Amino acid sequence: VKKKIFAANWKMNKSFKEAQSFCQSVKAALSSDFYNSAEVFIFPQNFSLAAVAEGASNTSIQFGPQQIHKESKGAFTGENSLDLAIVLGSKICLIGHSERRQFFAETDELVNHKIKLCQSQQVRPVFCIGETLAQREQNQTEKVCEEQLSRGLFGVDKQKNMVIAYEPVWAIGTGKVATNEQVKSVHQFIFEKMTGWGFTDFQILYGGSVKADNAKELISIPYVDGFLIGGASLEAESFINICQA
Ligand code: 13P
Repeated sequence: VKKKIFAANWKMNKSFKEAQSFCQSVKAALSSDFYNSAEVFIFPQNFSLAAVAEGASNTSIQFGPQQIHKESKGAFTGENSLDLAIVLGSKICLIGHSERRQFFAETDELVNHKIKLCQSQQVRPVFCIGETLAQREQNQTEKVCEEQLSRGLFGVDKQKNMVIAYEPVWAIGTGKVATNEQVKSVHQFIFEKMTGWGFTDFQILYGGSVKADNAKELISIPYVDGFLIGGASLEAESFINICQA
């Protein structure tokens, strides 16, 4: 049985101190038994990555950056490298979030490069895909998801673990959750594509307005292996409530 994954994406929020206290709360609330059937991922803003690294020590909490530069080092003022996140203990990395695609012009090709970089460093990529509202209204959801998947995964190692996060762009931060039917249908579509392409070890997370009060229902949908949580991951209490759903 696959472990469920509960992933917090703090986006551009949470200071070093706030990150420390969040980790303390999660540590206190989730017993070691919890981690037998689930994994907890935290994606802090880079200034707080070290705080989470420290707060997560001696726990099963995993953490990593929300975005990395495509090169490992060099003259790229202002950028952050996967290598330096690894030094802090990162074993996971968020790749291709829709906000990166939308506001920072990340292309499928760049996403593909970064996924390969993660694989080469034994880091598990959490690879985000999802359609916009206009694309859904034009019945292009499956087409868009398939394109993002096939381009992002071009030439990657299919035996290595891959975490896909399906986040419909229209459900992010809007309070509009995809319906159970919509979630099931896209997750099943992704599952069948991945299996058909020969991927043997992957999970599919749902993201988009996941909250404590809808988590229980969403987690019971077939092909949903966990969540990528934005707003509701900012308070330890609501994040813990989602984990316990
Ligand atoms: P919200 O949970 O705030 O909708 O954000 C989802 C998200 O983008 C997580 O990566």
